[in-house]
Amino acid sequence: MAKFLVEKCGPLSGEVEISGSKNAVLPIMAAAILTEESCQILDAPVLRDVDVMCKLLGSIGSAVKANYEENIIEIETRDIVAKEAPYELVKKMRASILVMGPLLARTGKARIALPGGCAIGARPINLHLKGFQALGAEIEEGHGYVEAKADKLIGANVYLDFPSVGATENIMMAAVLAEGITIIENVAEEPEIVDLANFLNKMGAKIKGAGTDTIKIEGVGKLHGTKHAVIPDRIETGTFMVAAAITRGNILIKNVVPDHVKPVIAKLKECGAIIEDGDDGMRVRGDVNPLISTDIKTLPYPGFPTDMQSQFMAFLTTVTGSSVVIETVFENRYMHIGELNRMGANIKIEGRSAIIQGDRRLQGAQVISTDLRAGAALVLAGLMAEGTTEISEVYHIERGYADFIEKFRSLGASIKRMED
Ligand code: EPZ
Repeated sequence: MAKFLVEKCGPLSGEVEISGSKNAVLPIMAAAILTEESCQILDAPVLRDVDVMCKLLGSIGSAVKANYEENIIEIETRDIVAKEAPYELVKKMRASILVMGPLLARTGKARIALPGGCAIGARPINLHLKGFQALGAEIEEGHGYVEAKADKLIGANVYLDFPSVGATENIMMAAVLAEGITIIENVAEEPEIVDLANFLNKMGAKIKGAGTDTIKIEGVGKLHGTKHAVIPDRIETGTFMVAAAITRGNILIKNVVPDHVKPVIAKLKECGAIIEDGDDGMRVRGDVNPLISTDIKTLPYPGFPTDMQSQFMAFLTTVTGSSVVIETVFENRYMHIGELNRMGANIKIEGRSAIIQGDRRLQGAQVISTDLRAGAALVLAGLMAEGTTEISEVYHIERGYADFIEKFRSLGASIKRMED
């Protein structure tokens, strides 16, 4: 198992280029199953999770060529040899369940290992299955697997009890080849949903409303191959914005879609950070004003993203004043609090709220990364903590951040990776 050794560093400075979005490229790779023609995905980030998705598509029968030098992934699924996502891949990456909708639409059958829970919550897939059933699929669960079967998928109306990102994506991918009209209400509005819909429409799908709370899909007979560049990663963007603020630095972040990080911009400005958006990128400065506390409530897009909660919390331990953070999307996304408190933070959990005391002098310690974003939060805290912070289980971080250490080093951080 690898570890990161993070030294206290001065203000970060310089510029960093954001990679393609993990949470956009994964569903788009799965959507390539919907056609037997070749799809070319550009600006694909080099990530462990992308590797796992390449392996999963290969096991289904896709010919996958990943050119990580050029950030291009080519997928051609002429014949499908397996209609399932096996447990050994699903347990590595829960996003494997995103092949369920495309497999069901293309072959009439999909068998997926139940993803189970993870550090941040139970992560059920009931809404995914509700959508498939509405489209006419029969669902069977047993021995840790779930199977969906349908001779034909028929367009239907689906209401999502919660605007689930994955369920929206899976049902959309199942509906594009269904007969007739599908209307999905109370859907997720994340930019990654819009990127997937754009990719599917380029393949010949007829999807309207992506990015709003209702998506309308007119089923078509066949989809063709296409070429598509994925959007920049808004959570990586937010992570580097917070890195500039927590170190009181001054960095230029390139390849950013400011619209996708509006809540993070708003909240950092409330804390006193200076954020300027220019032609060459977004400049974030934490070195101008004294930085003060604010309150955060995570919500589905366009609210404050849950995937930025832990990073922002690390930052709030260093500002003047107390802050309140409320996590409303996942039921157990406070695992990083215990680790931050071991570094000298003073954060108390009261029900679903976390109360963060400011002006803390953090100290380096041995800590554990419990999930992708918690790991990033511990690195950010380590940049400000006296001495060395040793972070274990960093494979979480490497699953979701491309060239993580290199990018931080280029801004002046001192982070070393060592095998345990
Ligand atoms: C996606 O996960 C992202 N992953 C997550 O990013 C992100 O945190 C999450 O959306 C919310 O924005 C990818 O896109 C690969 P959800 P997903 O379904 O689709 C409940 C990261 O760090 N729910 O929107 O699994 C669920 O329990 C990762 O990059 C149901 O109840 O998230 C949770 O409380 C972490 N039933 C809430 O919805 C369902 O059928 C949000 O889950 C599905 C979800």
